[in-house]
Amino acid sequence: MALLELSTVSVHYGRIQALSDVSLTVEQGEIVTLIGANGAGKTTTMRAISGIRPLSGGTITFDGEDISTLRADLRVVRGISQSPEGRGVFPGMTVMENLDMGAYSRKDRKNLAEDLDRVFTLFPRLAERKNQAGGTMSGGEQQMLAIGRALMARPRLLLLDEPSMGLAPQFIQQIFRIITEINEQGTTVLLVEQNAQQALSRAHRAYVLETGSISRTGTGQELLNDASIKEAYLGVA
Ligand SMILES: Nc1ncnc2c1ncn2[C@@H]1O[C@H](COP(=O)(O)OP(=O)(O)O)[C@@H](O)[C@H]1O
Ligand SMILES: [Mg+2]
Repeated sequence: MALLELSTVSVHYGRIQALSDVSLTVEQGEIVTLIGANGAGKTTTMRAISGIRPLSGGTITFDGEDISTLRADLRVVRGISQSPEGRGVFPGMTVMENLDMGAYSRKDRKNLAEDLDRVFTLFPRLAERKNQAGGTMSGGEQQMLAIGRALMARPRLLLLDEPSMGLAPQFIQQIFRIITEINEQGTTVLLVEQNAQQALSRAHRAYVLETGSISRTGTGQELLNDASIKEAYLGVA
């Protein structure tokens, strides 16, 4: 049984249909990546999974249970945690307070210290900047903080929406390395990216989203080597 399953999911914004019959699975332990052009519906897919956007059709199953209409905060309790597009760091709160917000919905508060340790080991910069206001951190640091905050919920499924967006090259490499590390520590990852090269090379499996529909799927390697994918998403003719 897949950890996450979307079955013919549709989402509308008013009259605009952003997703049409999207079906995909994420197995326990995988990194699955969703690539696609601007406006393809990647963020909408993440919002549907985290419960920020209601479905207009289809179902979402997590760990065998239908969560299609479950409240967003209760999805966090079940184990789905999101690092949103554009990071969403609370600018007036310190790094430490931002991380505390990530742990807010947890029932098992006893392992908090352990998880804070995990976050500080993955992102030593956050440990050095514990008392700095989130809004004064650099773009790369805020991205680290957003991922760290999502990890503080001790998720079973981590949703990452364009973690490399707007980052300097040395931060991009670092973020992708850390995503692999998080996965190797046992967290299942669904990764949305425009940086298809990096995302496909890190992913076990991938889906291509085109104007609200899944057009292709395969292993990361299969899609990396595919001529039409290369042309459309990897900037290689
Ligand atoms: N809040 C919104 N209101 C209306 N349309 C939206 C809204 N958010 C996204 N859309 C539309 O839904 C489609 C998918 O957007 P999005 O999921 O953000 O794409 P992506 O993340 O792949 O760039 C786009 O056509 C976009 O214009
Ligand atoms: Mg997006």
